[in-house]
Amino acid sequence: MSTLSISLPGGIWTLGDLTVTRFGYGAMQLAGPGVMGPPADHDGALAVLREVVDLGITHIDTADAYGPRVTNQLIREALHPYADSLHIVTKVGATRDEQGGWPPARRPEDLRRAVHENLENLGLETLDVVNLRLGDAQGPRPGSLAEAFETLVDLQRQGLIRHLGVSNATAEQVAEARSIAPIVCVQNMYNLAHRHDDELIDELAEQGIAYVPFFPLGGFSPLQSSALSAVAARLHATAMSVALAWLLRRSPNILLIPGTSSVAHLRENVAGAGLSLSDEDLAELDKIGR
Ligand SMILES: NC(=O)c1ccc[n+]([C@@H]2O[C@H](COP(=O)([O-])OP(=O)(O)OC[C@H]3O[C@@H](n4cnc5c(N)ncnc54)[C@H](OP(=O)(O)O)[C@@H]3O)[C@@H](O)[C@H]2O)c1
Repeated sequence: MSTLSISLPGGIWTLGDLTVTRFGYGAMQLAGPGVMGPPADHDGALAVLREVVDLGITHIDTADAYGPRVTNQLIREALHPYADSLHIVTKVGATRDEQGGWPPARRPEDLRRAVHENLENLGLETLDVVNLRLGDAQGPRPGSLAEAFETLVDLQRQGLIRHLGVSNATAEQVAEARSIAPIVCVQNMYNLAHRHDDELIDELAEQGIAYVPFFPLGGFSPLQSSALSAVAARLHATAMSVALAWLLRRSPNILLIPGTSSVAHLRENVAGAGLSLSDEDLAELDKIGR
């Protein structure tokens, strides 16, 4: 692992036998508008990915659905052959339609194809972590994941996947997955203002399973709250920094994957997540999502 990673805010976490920095990077924003097509600035996107590694970040989150294929191919172009310390987490279970929608693709044949396509587009022989993405663009939906998850377990047995996780999942689906095979992470929507998973996060922390919030900064609609602005102003920091620092403080099993298409924002976020929050700040921030 890069010596620089030791100084990244949050330190490290282990996903099964893989060590990652708690400060990771979400690659979705590297694709074109609406997460469709190539980026406007191809070289700029490669520069962001190279900066991720130069900063010592060892966890990149991606999916073949981004672009589709665009972010995986950018990751390969920028970073292949990968450092042993770098771990790429991908997800399967959704595809893209011509309107930019995210229809589910969770039949066994869809999942097998998706795993092989991720391997090819990333230039890997084994995927470090694969999340089964459930629900739809509106959020988690109830229902058994058994057939889909068992398909991934089978691919894991074949050596194509090292570790499994679930995404956009209900607490019941997390429990169902764990009754079938071990998981190393859950990736759901969560941030200062959206805290449906509070209980789940605490349960997973007790079990040593990572919780990886997507939209940590609010995603397509940046987090806005007068309490957040007040705390940020008091600390002479940005709202983004406070939101990331709060997540790192919220629970030791939370891993950050903020997205950005800008090297400057990436550096700002790494620096900002190290912000120290007082008990008074925390109490004020805690009220936002409750
Ligand atoms: N499992 C799932 O279903 C799912 C769904 C959505 C996302 N994800 C994953 O989660 C990751 C994170 O989500 P996300 O990227 O959509 O949302 P996010 O991290 O909450 O926010 C990203 C947005 O914040 C902006 N931003 C970042 N840093 C900033 C800064 N310092 N100042 C101002 N603006 C800043 C980015 O714009 P700039 O590009 O201008 O910096 C971008 O528009 C994704 O990359 C993806 O890997 C997973």
